[in-house]
Amino acid sequence: MKVAILSGSVYGTAEEVARHAAELLDQAGFQTWHNPRATLADVQAFAPEALLAVTSTTGMGELPDNLQPLYSALRDQLPAAWRGLPGAVIGLGDASYGDTFCGGGEQMRELFGELGVREVLPMLRLDASESVTPESDAEPWLAELIGALRG
Ligand SMILES: Cc1cc2nc3c(=O)[nH]c(=O)nc-3n(C[C@H](O)[C@H](O)[C@H](O)COP(=O)(O)O)c2cc1C
Repeated sequence: MKVAILSGSVYGTAEEVARHAAELLDQAGFQTWHNPRATLADVQAFAPEALLAVTSTTGMGELPDNLQPLYSALRDQLPAAWRGLPGAVIGLGDASYGDTFCGGGEQMRELFGELGVREVLPMLRLDASESVTPESDAEPWLAELIGALRG
């Protein structure tokens, strides 16, 4: 199964988590594709069969700049081929931001909803105020994701 990983990061933490997710999915036999500067055409050329979004939150609950163009293109075009694909989101944030905690991840979840992507696992929220090891913290969730995608 081909899994596209869509990532948004300001300082690189979410990027590291996305890379780690790609490694674990590859080891589990999936074919992953990950490019932090992906355009919609790039992702469509890969023809994903599942989607994983990994994004931090910046500003007041906003998506990082590197993910904004892809996010906007997806909202504008709502590719029909993605309807019904399995997907899931990892949101990185900091609970001390209160209401906007993991707002970037929430935006990707909403977008997946609009696209008709089927959420196979509740969003993982990685809290920078609680832990400095987000990659290893994501491992149990990623193991669950692998199970869910294998169906
Ligand atoms: C300027 C700034 C604004 C932030 N705003 C939010 C926010 O609104 N909500 C949130 O949950 N986290 C917020 N964060 C925390 C980051 O999302 C968190 O530290 C994350 O792990 C950073 O990942 P990155 O290195 O991939 O960008 C903010 C961090 C910075 C520096």
